[in-house]
Amino acid sequence: MGRVWLRTLTASEDVDLVGVADLDVERARAAVRAAGADGAKVAGSLGDLLADTAPDAVVNVTVPAAHSEVNIEALFAGIPVLCEKPAAPTLAEAVVQVAAAEATGRLLMVSQSRRYYAALEEYRRRIAELGTPGLLTTGFFRGERFGGFRDVMEQPLLVDMAIHPFDAARHLLGAEPISVMCETWNPAWSWYHGDASATATFLFDGGTRYVYTASWCAEGLETPWNGQWRATGPAGSVTWDGEHRVTSSTGGPSDGPSDVPPGTHEEIAGALAEFVAALRTGTEPSGAIARNIRSLAMVEAAVRSAESGARVHIGELLDQAHRDALALPVRDEIRARLQASAPPSL
Ligand SMILES: NC(=O)c1ccc[n+]([C@@H]2O[C@H](COP(=O)([O-])OP(=O)(O)OC[C@H]3O[C@@H](n4cnc5c(N)ncnc54)[C@H](O)[C@@H]3O)[C@@H](O)[C@H]2O)c1
Repeated sequence: MGRVWLRTLTASEDVDLVGVADLDVERARAAVRAAGADGAKVAGSLGDLLADTAPDAVVNVTVPAAHSEVNIEALFAGIPVLCEKPAAPTLAEAVVQVAAAEATGRLLMVSQSRRYYAALEEYRRRIAELGTPGLLTTGFFRGERFGGFRDVMEQPLLVDMAIHPFDAARHLLGAEPISVMCETWNPAWSWYHGDASATATFLFDGGTRYVYTASWCAEGLETPWNGQWRATGPAGSVTWDGEHRVTSSTGGPSDGPSDVPPGTHEEIAGALAEFVAALRTGTEPSGAIARNIRSLAMVEAAVRSAESGARVHIGELLDQAHRDALALPVRDEIRARLQASAPPSL
């Protein structure tokens, strides 16, 4: 993913690439060469790179387990960060990062690349025409043979993938999740160690049920990576095929199918554009850590519900994450902020 980011950064007119750090310096050097960014410095850690450069921002594309440490190092060096999803492997570590952003007064934004599609924005507009949906659904069915870490995770689908549609559901509904019931399982033919299939039903404020039904070991008739979406509301129904087609049946002026052309900045280029605009104008981006944390909370709540068989309340989970964050070894400035700030529950 770092290489994908390097291509996007070098293609952008808004930013200049000054350096790349990776624990594997040779890997960084090869990636810089492949991106044709010969002037960029290379180092084995963010700290070493900062000793040699003075960037205006850091893009963090390390593994999730390293996100917190790298983000906090950059923030305390006074540098805003655009970090790959998920903010952290646990909600408590993400709460620590909310406090770090507040303590330093620097922007920490999580890149949720699947929030940036022109078709998604058209789908959002048409959902608004429906009135508050009673039901929003995503169907995601793919037969992915990744190899590597996903094959041995307990919850590969929920933890590595579901944050994208969960985050998109919050964006589409303009509402926040209250609670979830989730069941996960591993079909007999699955090549994953953990649960590759899931159904989660979230209750959102406003009353919408959001139902996510998905599998990563479903071969044949695969859905697009965004999944296929349907919303039903007082005025009718609206669907998105996960690519370019949005279709309404509401009796209104938008009725029928529309093929939406791609926008100028989609996927990670969209996240980069929103990040740059936020730094220039001071506006809070949709992925600001304090806002994004609720998408991560949806993932953790779904996992807890699948493990326990019980409904999980997201406000209670956030309160618990705040208490857990206070037990983590953190800088004094972060601890003071955690002690001063109210838990981010609903
Ligand atoms: N938005 C998307 O569609 C999308 C797709 C794939 C991956 N991702 C995300 O991108 C991130 C990276 O995933 P990946 O598949 O490229 O992982 P990867 O393991 O291929 O690469 C991660 C790199 O980070 C380096 N690294 C680890 N800790 C570091 C540290 N402390 N300092 C510097 N470098 C460090 C590793 O050496 C490695 O080269 C993850 O958060 C993942 O979820 C997002």
